[in-house]
Amino acid sequence: MAKAKIKKIAVMTGGGDCPGLNAVIRAVVKTAINHYDLEVYGIEDGYQGLIEDRIHPLNYGNVSGILTVGGTILGSSNTSNPFCYPITLGKKTVNKDVSEQCVINLTKRGIDTMICIGGDGTMNSAAAFVKKGLTVMGVPKTIDNDLYGTDITFGFDTAVNTATEAIDKLHTTASSHHRVMLLEVMGRYAGWIALYAGAAGGADVILIPEIPYDISKVADYVMRRSRTGRRFSIICVAEGAKAKGGKMVVAKKIANSPDPIRLGGISFMLADQLADLTGISCRAVNLGHVQRGGVPSPFDRALATQFGHYAMELLMKGKPNRLVVMKNGRLDSIPLGQTAGRIKTVPMNHTLIAAAKAVGTSFGI
Ligand code: F6P
Repeated sequence: MAKAKIKKIAVMTGGGDCPGLNAVIRAVVKTAINHYDLEVYGIEDGYQGLIEDRIHPLNYGNVSGILTVGGTILGSSNTSNPFCYPITLGKKTVNKDVSEQCVINLTKRGIDTMICIGGDGTMNSAAAFVKKGLTVMGVPKTIDNDLYGTDITFGFDTAVNTATEAIDKLHTTASSHHRVMLLEVMGRYAGWIALYAGAAGGADVILIPEIPYDISKVADYVMRRSRTGRRFSIICVAEGAKAKGGKMVVAKKIANSPDPIRLGGISFMLADQLADLTGISCRAVNLGHVQRGGVPSPFDRALATQFGHYAMELLMKGKPNRLVVMKNGRLDSIPLGQTAGRIKTVPMNHTLIAAAKAVGTSFGI
């Protein structure tokens, strides 16, 4: 039987938030209403709101004035997976598949189409909902820029701006006190933020997960700078960076999260180690969630607007169940399930690694 024409869609934001989410929501809702005369619903707090039936109509007024606002007007959650959801019965908690209830919560409103804005965890569930008969369009987001299949995700540029500004500020205080200042940035298992912010901020050392470091090489480099009159050093370290043969520093484990590991703390460990090895005063700053907040950069607003619009165009032109991506400067799409279990790390032959090395930046090797 042919599928009925799309009349209602629901939009949601899942996973960790990032600057530019509201720009996508605005583009989706305005395109849906202006060009296709659709009814649009918003799902609150990612899959959590879908599970709990918190779904409400979105109109033009709801999305006016949100282009420049960080975060997401819908709310988000990076711990709820409808296909493995903890239910507490008495004293016992068991994981259950509550996806059927999610489908009912949509279809009872006459909705069978979702626009899911999220990272890999959100896309895995989105692909599973397609198997349950829903139509889903995926829009990639993450400050980490690590989503497989797209050259860039919105949120990354704003995060890099924030981290670069932090490096700029650390330069002056490091120089005044002749210190080693370490800035720890996010990125999970990929070093994109550290590489771009480190290169843009002129960090002396950049440490990323893709290039395991040797602490003695970092210490030698810092001492050589000191001996030659450059009495301070700036180190930009990705939260996922690790020593050769070592392990990433885990800050905590979040029960029930699709990705329970939260990294963090390597900058403090390195500051202690470097102070011991060099005798130079070292201080560490973990920039943390500051990188996820704030006003989205113009680049992210423009990218997010294109992604949201393109998702609607593909959907309405009969190309559903795809993830919108940017490939070689052009909008494109890939099958929704294709990101599962894959991440995009920094390739060793990245031109920014070569350029940073050429201007004297150390990668700790
Ligand atoms: O994926 C985005 C991100 O900010 C990562 O860079 C970071 O490791 C993680 O999310 C932090 O997650 P949470 O918000 O749960 O602390």
